[in-house]
Amino acid sequence: MESSRFCFFLPVFCVSLLIPARTLTLPHNHVALFIFGDSLFDVGNNNYLKNAIGLANFWPYGETFFKHPTGRFSDGRLISDFIAEYLKLPLIPPYLQPGIQFTDGVNFASGGAGALVETHQGSEGRVIDLKTQVLYLKNVKKHIKQQLGDAETRTLLSKAIYLISIGGNDYIAPSSEFESFPKEEFVGMVIGNLTSVIKDIYKVGGRKFAFVSMGAFDCSPNMRALKQDKGGCDEEVTALAKLHNKVLPDVLKELQGQLKEFKYINFDFYTTLKERINNPSKYGFKEANVACCGAGPFRGTLSSCGISKDYEVCEDVSEYLFFDSVHPTEKAYKQLAKLIWSGGYNVSWPYNLETLIEVDLEGLL
Ligand SMILES: *[C@@H]1O[C@H](CO)[C@@H](O)[C@H](O)[C@H]1NC(C)=O
Ligand SMILES: *[C@@H]1O[C@H](CO)[C@@H](O)[C@H](O)[C@H]1NC(C)=O
Repeated sequence: MESSRFCFFLPVFCVSLLIPARTLTLPHNHVALFIFGDSLFDVGNNNYLKNAIGLANFWPYGETFFKHPTGRFSDGRLISDFIAEYLKLPLIPPYLQPGIQFTDGVNFASGGAGALVETHQGSEGRVIDLKTQVLYLKNVKKHIKQQLGDAETRTLLSKAIYLISIGGNDYIAPSSEFESFPKEEFVGMVIGNLTSVIKDIYKVGGRKFAFVSMGAFDCSPNMRALKQDKGGCDEEVTALAKLHNKVLPDVLKELQGQLKEFKYINFDFYTTLKERINNPSKYGFKEANVACCGAGPFRGTLSSCGISKDYEVCEDVSEYLFFDSVHPTEKAYKQLAKLIWSGGYNVSWPYNLETLIEVDLEGLL
């Protein structure tokens, strides 16, 4: 009442009194991007860990696009960077980088992370597991609320995309205590933990999820190097990846029945990567078996790029599908991101990302 009396005499002043203080208002079509997972998406979180299991903060990582290493496990941008571009966002910074803005989204991914806390754990600060990444999201929500208030935070979080790549480390480097587990049970555990993380993100306010399923990393230069004599793919990992990719769609469909307004896309990373491994020239590559950077057969020795005394770097990275023993090149990531954005039903199901961001949620203005 006090302020409305004020209003009578000073209408301009009154407006600023009646509207709650806000430091920021976001455009109506703003779509934030929250990124979770492993080295496929890590843009530098591991740089801040005490004993990171994997690092890419040295040359020649980053050489193509950034001209300096950033912590990305590639020569340039990652799938998540290209997705940010499609969403008309700036590059999304790593959560652990001091002083970052949260309203465009945050990247929580950590090289070496798994859905299981045991994966690559062992001592403090080796990796940020998926559950911890979601704890960080809760912290981010508090900060956004202080900036935007409750209603706008709810809108931001429900329109945002939650991009997730997880599982590769659980299957390629399972913790020794799970070695004797039958495959079905182990995959069930990985997906069970992923499911509980999805539910947690949903509780925080997430509605639109984009999953990058298990890629064809059974045929990475590292896997070929481990099979030196044959140089083939690793059948154990193939079986786990295929089982994961078979179970996940059913679980996602089930979640859609349980969680109101839960929307998702599931990108077929296995077929799309395998197609490029099998037919490199069709996609503009000359070499899909040997890495651009690394040591040993196929330049496939794990974590040798930029580190081993005898590592090599290719002359023309644009000819290569894999940059190091495990991770694709920027050129490959760019092609894959385009498929996530606008690919057909045969690669992204039940939507592509371009369609997913347009899907209306009932509870939203
Ligand atoms: C999650 O993983 C742990 C091992 O880290 C396992 O004991 C637990 O049963 C899993 N949870 C679900 C829901 O699958
Ligand atoms: C998806 O379909 C398109 C054409 O409809 C085709 O060119 C492409 O190879 C298919 N991709 C996969 C992974 O099957």
